[in-house]
Amino acid sequence: MDYVLEMKNIFKSFGPVHVLEGIDFSLKKGEVRALLGANGAGKSTLIKIVGGVHSQTSGEVFLKGEKVNFKDEYDSKMKGISIIYQELSLIPTLTVIENIFLGRESVRGAFLKKEDMRKEYEQICKDFDFNINPDVITSRLSIANQQMVEIMKAVSWNADIIIMDEPTTSLTNNEKEGLFKIIKRLKKSGKSVIYISHILDEIFLNCDSASIMRNGKLVGNYDVKDLTKGKITELMTGNTNSGIKEKKDQTFADYKSEPVLELQNISRNNVVKNVSFKVHKGEVVGLAGLVGSKRTEIANLIYGVDKRTGGTILMNGKEVNIKSPTEAIANKIGYIPEDRKNLGLILDWEIYKNATAIQIDKFKTRGFLDPKKEKEFTGYGVKKLGIKINNAAQKMKELSGGNQQKVVVSKWLGQDMDLIIYDEPTKGIDIAAKEDIFHTVEEFSKQGIGVIFISSDLDEVLRVSDKIIVIRDGSVVCEMDNKGISVQDIMNKIFDV
Ligand SMILES: Nc1ncnc2c1ncn2[C@@H]1O[C@H](COP(=O)(O)OP(=O)(O)OP(=O)(O)O)[C@@H](O)[C@H]1O
Ligand SMILES: [Mg+2]
Repeated sequence: MDYVLEMKNIFKSFGPVHVLEGIDFSLKKGEVRALLGANGAGKSTLIKIVGGVHSQTSGEVFLKGEKVNFKDEYDSKMKGISIIYQELSLIPTLTVIENIFLGRESVRGAFLKKEDMRKEYEQICKDFDFNINPDVITSRLSIANQQMVEIMKAVSWNADIIIMDEPTTSLTNNEKEGLFKIIKRLKKSGKSVIYISHILDEIFLNCDSASIMRNGKLVGNYDVKDLTKGKITELMTGNTNSGIKEKKDQTFADYKSEPVLELQNISRNNVVKNVSFKVHKGEVVGLAGLVGSKRTEIANLIYGVDKRTGGTILMNGKEVNIKSPTEAIANKIGYIPEDRKNLGLILDWEIYKNATAIQIDKFKTRGFLDPKKEKEFTGYGVKKLGIKINNAAQKMKELSGGNQQKVVVSKWLGQDMDLIIYDEPTKGIDIAAKEDIFHTVEEFSKQGIGVIFISSDLDEVLRVSDKIIVIRDGSVVCEMDNKGISVQDIMNKIFDV
């Protein structure tokens, strides 16, 4: 059998922590293979070995039958491997085109001519049906666009093996379709792809085969056509009934008392347009809409991140004028942001410092921060959300992507709030652990806290919400009671059919 990549009996430990334990993994020419597993299973660690970021503790890696030992990332790239990392690896101060062609000059002997780069860039954009100004500084782009640039960079490298670690977490539907077309084309031209995602529909759409991991070990290799969502979840977790539940069965909404939040025609320039809705005590209000429909922008007005240009916000019947997140917290508003790396976490800090950042005053003894109390609180969140950590004093960046996301959610547990906003809280969360996030929504609402829940996954919105508000292009399209409605009903409103 001619494998382009073979990994044999791979072990990887970080100090005393065993992350990979005897993984065998192989990939054929022209194959699109999914790599699946719960948060913290070891997927990213495995592909970082292929990418030369980590070296294995023991085990062997072969490329086209030849044993390799990558010295570093550059070495791996030169041997024909290209990776879209879960954490974006672009250099924020460079322009888009500089990022895309970074490091290529040396491959082709002489450095690439500017015109050639531009021509190639245009072609890539055409392929992706995408349009980003090549001269814009990368850090100015939205997260979605940065992710697109990351993908364009990896794909245009012309590698034999392209590895995608959760490439679609921030993409719009059109951008996703563009990516899926590219994957088909790569396959046709004999390239091989390793595809990691927690969105299982993407696996069924794009992949031929799947390797499933659990706790650092390989569970098995499968043909995708023999798998179902339920089967994958079972293999990933070893548990037979851990998928997403259909729908919430109880409501804790109190429609009699004053709403905790009332938006009256709030606007920001031409971005958010005359948005009005109410959130009652204990009510879960789902905001449904496409990526880019400005749901986050509405949340940012409530949380004081952006400035309103019109309209009024009332909390518990009284007008408020919140000008910053600090003021929002003082007004008993919580916010789980979409962009966890920039807004939710400090990756170089310890886990417990991150977990306690919002409620810091609670963990003081005689005026001084008490690490024991901080770690106790962290442990509470770890248990509640099933966060996979070794100890609370680990650096945040050592956690897997999904586990970082869970810490962001855990920061708000036990906080005195009237309202909490969840913005795409299940991004990167494995299918079994999503329920843990939904439980926090339920618990908050049970305590009388109003919840705004933003998700691009309509099954999730239906799962948790009492009321659904459809947003299109910065405006409210309609309000729907979550009674007897289907995903299709919401879709029809989103697309105006
Ligand atoms: N540098 C490190 N030091 C210590 N532990 C680490 C380090 N990097 C990863 N780990 C641990 O290895 C385990 C596997 O992490 P990995 O990122 O590979 O998971 P994953 O399968 O990609 O999960 P996710 O779906 O959440 O992205 C985790 O428990 C993580 O905490
Ligand atoms: Mg990962």
